[in-house]
Amino acid sequence: MAESKTLLRALAGETLPTPPIWMMRQAGRYLPEYRATRAQAGDFLSLCYNPELAAEVTLQPIRRYGFDAAILFADILLVPQALGADLWFVTGEGPRLSTITTDAEMAALKPVSDIHETLNPVYETVRILSRELPKETTLIGFAGAPWTVATYMIAGRGTKDQGPAHALKSENRPLFEALMDRIAEATVEYLSAQIEAGAEVVKLFDSWAGSLRGDDFDRYAVEPARWIISQIKERHPGIPVIAFPREAGDGYIGFHKRTGADCVAVDDSVDAAWVAKNVQVDGCVQGNLKSSHMVTGGQALVDETRRIVEALKGGPHIFNLGHGITPDADPDNVQLMIDTVRNG
Ligand code: CP3
Repeated sequence: MAESKTLLRALAGETLPTPPIWMMRQAGRYLPEYRATRAQAGDFLSLCYNPELAAEVTLQPIRRYGFDAAILFADILLVPQALGADLWFVTGEGPRLSTITTDAEMAALKPVSDIHETLNPVYETVRILSRELPKETTLIGFAGAPWTVATYMIAGRGTKDQGPAHALKSENRPLFEALMDRIAEATVEYLSAQIEAGAEVVKLFDSWAGSLRGDDFDRYAVEPARWIISQIKERHPGIPVIAFPREAGDGYIGFHKRTGADCVAVDDSVDAAWVAKNVQVDGCVQGNLKSSHMVTGGQALVDETRRIVEALKGGPHIFNLGHGITPDADPDNVQLMIDTVRNG
């Protein structure tokens, strides 16, 4: 039977008359129904580990907008927690973790085979979603890429320039690489379990790939993505993978071929016309409207959405933002973006 899900068709390399659309952080604080369910759960992590409520917030943007894909509600930092790191969120500030900067702290992490004990509720969320999603909606699972996850595990928090991770990489490369390997192995297990539970696509978020330069980009962004994708495809032939090496710049060129990704997601620091010429030539691309348009809306949103659709209409394209939607976004602007993509 011919594939009917538009997201899967784009990922298979088809150029569609209207690009499928979804939005990073589409389940999130800009939606009043998300805030209500989060309050019911108590806090963000309790929401991530409550399969019924996590499935509910995943479905909310699908019900409201009819996006072509749903992304599992979870967080990239659940993997460090499953490996034994302490994790908590400070309201208004973001994540905090116990740090890994010494060989002793590394030795205290749990083996990869233990992660499912913590992550089982996430797989249950995926199972609920694969039953409850509309038949035309594709379910996307995800994980953080090793470098991005390592930056949080080393610093114990988000950092502007990923300084602590760069420092450990220079000062104790064997420890840094042991941590990268542990995360990569855990990521393969985690994504495989999501696929077994019903995820139809997986996405690897490398939010801080842009701070890796030269050889470091090849060794710590390209190579882990290539290895993880090869392992996933060996276990689950045919499963499409989206890679997002955010702010990679020229590093986006050849990223499909170098890693085996079916789709490369691009942020808004690169122009769509440049993406068509340099990245889409190798396969499907996803992106890349600036998320601030979801706050400001109006004719600028419409014009820029049209420009991106036009620039990328010659090849496979999944419409998305260049990064996650922010809490101050206006839900009506999301509808305006969708209407513009679908109706021109
Ligand atoms: O809707 C979706 O996209 C699915 C769920 C999802 C979340 N986080 C939920 C979330 C996904 C795919 C992520 C990925 C994620 N998490 C990344 C990579 C993508 C990116 O944005 O660069 C990163 C770096 C994280 C780590 C993380 N989680 C941070 C730094 C923060 C704090 C900043 C913030 O936005 O509050 C989070 C919290 C988080 N993850 C929220 C959500 C909905 C907000 C929590 C809340 O409800 O208060």
